[in-house]
This record gives sequence, structure tokens and C-alpha cells, in this order.
Amino acid sequence: MLQTTDQPANAIEIRGLVKTYPPMRKHPAHTALDGIDLTVPRGSLFGLLGPNGAGKSTLINILGYLTLKTSGHVWVWDADLDENPRRVQSAIGIVPQELTIDTFFTARELLEFQAGLHGVPRKERITDYLLDLVELSDMADVSTRALSGGMQRRLMVAKAMVHRPPVLVLDEPTAGVDVDLRHSLWEQIRKMNESGTTIVLTTHYLEEAQALCDTVAILDEGKLIACDTKENLLKTLDNKRITITVDRDLHDVPPNLRPHGWVLEGTRKLTLSERPSRLSMGQMLLSVQVNGLNIVDIVTQETDLEDVFLKMTKSA
Ligand SMILES: Nc1ncnc2c1ncn2[C@@H]1O[C@H](COP(=O)(O)OP(=O)(O)O)[C@@H](O)[C@H]1O
Ligand SMILES: [Mg+2]
Repeated sequence: MLQTTDQPANAIEIRGLVKTYPPMRKHPAHTALDGIDLTVPRGSLFGLLGPNGAGKSTLINILGYLTLKTSGHVWVWDADLDENPRRVQSAIGIVPQELTIDTFFTARELLEFQAGLHGVPRKERITDYLLDLVELSDMADVSTRALSGGMQRRLMVAKAMVHRPPVLVLDEPTAGVDVDLRHSLWEQIRKMNESGTTIVLTTHYLEEAQALCDTVAILDEGKLIACDTKENLLKTLDNKRITITVDRDLHDVPPNLRPHGWVLEGTRKLTLSERPSRLSMGQMLLSVQVNGLNIVDIVTQETDLEDVFLKMTKSA
């Protein structure tokens, strides 16, 4: 790989990554990552999406050199993880899934200590900037024991950034946090991305990837089943979900509607989750009305990542 530019086109490149956890007691060996190829463009706000157990944390921990890969290649900011793990570590900040705040320090001390570990000279430290970024300036000098769970999580984000890494990786940053805090974390993540940091976050919340990320990879059982811009992923379903309410009770979907995949919900709601793109809305309404049914209500819903995810995991 070329190492001639300070600003590589891609923040992270992964080729053929495999992780097999060895057998333990009664558990057989388990392949958590089964040949992953992944490219994270520089500057992106990249979502690694997948259900629990998909292998997201395993991948993040390999990037952070916390878990050793079985095989494959990883480059971060053009540095090869095998050849130059220290350069990889200086290019990346990792916020792990579990809270690991040492409650012996104040927030400020913790950030200073962490900067020291990374060898950042005192003059170059950005402690105040980071405390401000994660909205902890007011709590900078109290023991971290006094911080709420949400504050501790924000402090972990700051801690991962003391050495100004160009790539910040957050493993489930909003798992288990309430809606208000989730939105404020999203805001902070956006701000960091706008200021030039490439962000990779894992989530099992589809709506989080939908709201926040510009590029999305979907991981399922250790395999990558999709990776594209959010826009392109949503385009793969050129349809909207449609619900039509009729004025009579039905016991079954009328025969002329069955081939198109209509489903009866309750007795009066007909839903179509994948509208065949060759059918116009007019044709669809007519095909309902020819059964002598009057249409009382029509609701259409834009497709979202959840639809894409369901479709892809179904066909995988
Ligand atoms: N240290 C480990 N030893 C053995 N198996 C593990 C270990 N860590 C994770 N796994 C298994 O690997 C799979 C992927 O786990 P993980 O990477 O934590 O998934 P995710 O973060 O997507 O929920 C799961 O089946 C999990 O049980
Ligand atoms: Mg995880």
C-alpha cells in the first residue's frame, strides 16, 4: 500500500478479515468474522450495523489491537496493523462498548493522564477543548465517580481523542442510554465528523444508522451483506410500504391481489410491503376496487434501513 500522502483516500481498509475464537470448555471454536472486506472512506460517518452477535465488537477490537485477528489484512490511515501497530494506534481512538472509567481521577486528570500515555507533550494537549466538546467543562474537576452514566460515556469519547486521532471508532455509543442523551450524543458525533474526524460507529439500532450515518455496512453472522452509501442502500428498494383500509370486513386477501404480495392485517387493512415497480399507484387502487371494496384510507410509508436490512437478511 502506498504511504505517500498524509491524507489517505480511505481511513480504514480491511481485506479478508477472519476471526475464529478458539474452543473453550464446552464451546466449540467460533468464527465471529468470516472473511470481511470493508473500506471506510476518509471523512465519512460510517455505521457498522448488525444484530447482537454479528461480530461488530470483534471487528472494532481488532482495529484497537485488543483482539488478535486470525487472518486477513487491516490498514488504518495507510498503516498496516501487522507491520506498524503503533502507527495504527496513533491514528485511531476507540471507545469500547463497556464503560471503563477509572473513578480514581477527575475528568481533567483522566484526560491529562491518557494524553501522557500517548506521549502528547503538555503544550499540545487539548484537554479543555475536549471537555468543552463533550459538554463536561462544568464537571472537569470533580471525581469521575460523581458523573452520571451518560457523562461517563461522554468522557470516554473525550478520552479516545486526547491524541487527536483522525479516526474515531465508537462501539455502540448509545446502547442503553435514554432518548435525550442519545440525541445529544448524536449531535456531538456529528460535530466531530464535521470538524474532519472520520467516525465509525457500531449500532444495533437501525434508526441510529438511518439518522446519523452517510455510509452503512451491514454485518450478519460474521459476514458483510451490504456496504454502500445510505442513499444507495435505500434506493435498492424502489418502493414504499402501503396500507389501504377498506370499508368491509375481509376474511382473506382477494384472489386478484394475492400474486402481488398483499397481506391482510386484521379484517380491513391490506398492506403491501414491496410495491412492484411496474405497477402504478392507480393500477393498484383499481385492483383493490374491482373487488367491490371502497377505499377509506391510504397510508404510504417511505422505506428505511430496517426494510433494507430485513430484505437483505431474508435473501442472504
Ligand atoms: N472472547 C470471546 N470468546 C469466544 N467467543 C466470543 C468472544 N467474544 C465474542 N464472541 C462471540 O463472537 C460472536 C460475535 O460477538 P461480538 O463481536 O461481540 O458481536 P456484536 O458486537 O455484533 O454483538 C458472538 O457469537 C460472540 O458470542
Ligand atoms: Mg458488540
